[in-house]
Amino acid sequence: MPEPRGRLITIEGLDGSGKTTLADGLEAALLERGLPVLRLREPGGVELSERIRALVADPALDVHPHTEALLFAAARAQLCAELLVPALREGRWVLLDRFVDSSLAYQGGGRGLGLEAVARVNELATLGCRPDRTLLLRVSRSAGRRRLDARGGGQDRMEREDDAFFARVESSYDALATGEPERFRTLDAHKDASAVLADALDAMADILQEPVTK
Ligand code: TYD
Repeated sequence: MPEPRGRLITIEGLDGSGKTTLADGLEAALLERGLPVLRLREPGGVELSERIRALVADPALDVHPHTEALLFAAARAQLCAELLVPALREGRWVLLDRFVDSSLAYQGGGRGLGLEAVARVNELATLGCRPDRTLLLRVSRSAGRRRLDARGGGQDRMEREDDAFFARVESSYDALATGEPERFRTLDAHKDASAVLADALDAMADILQEPVTK
């Protein structure tokens, strides 16, 4: 009997781009198709990584960019080892809100550490896990900002960065998407939620049709 093979679908984009709303819609759509979905977010998903999430979000902390990159990678390492890799081995479809591309864009681009250094740090963290598809939600900084403001709840440490920081994050994301067109699909996140979901399902049509064994 061929073994089941899980799929790793990651969702990326600026803060306020609607990743959570898309993940909600995709989770329902995949469950409707009878697929064994596991929904996760980064940083987080397991206890240790959720604690790191609280650390990196805390506006009271002064975090050096190198420390920041290592903290996100540490959260990722624990998530991959404890939950993600076992889930993929069991044949689950993992919907993951942010993954290595967030570190490449925010720490590599935004903080200026460079893509190569951040990629190297993350090699250890991911245990070779690579997304089957990455959905990049593209939204203007001003529209993203408006959504975050509407959500309320105050700004976390990352959200306090200035427009120049987010412009670097955005252009790093664009460069990553251009560099790996097989894996990335860029979606216009200014559309309403149902249109973004329809675009996302279109962008996954090929992998939804593949056999679920290896
Ligand atoms: P996210 O969960 O998308 O924030 P929220 O749910 O509050 O909208 O991500 C948390 C923040 O961490 C976000 O500003 C992006 C940042 N981040 C990085 O800078 N590097 C990373 O590797 C990850 C996973 C997130």
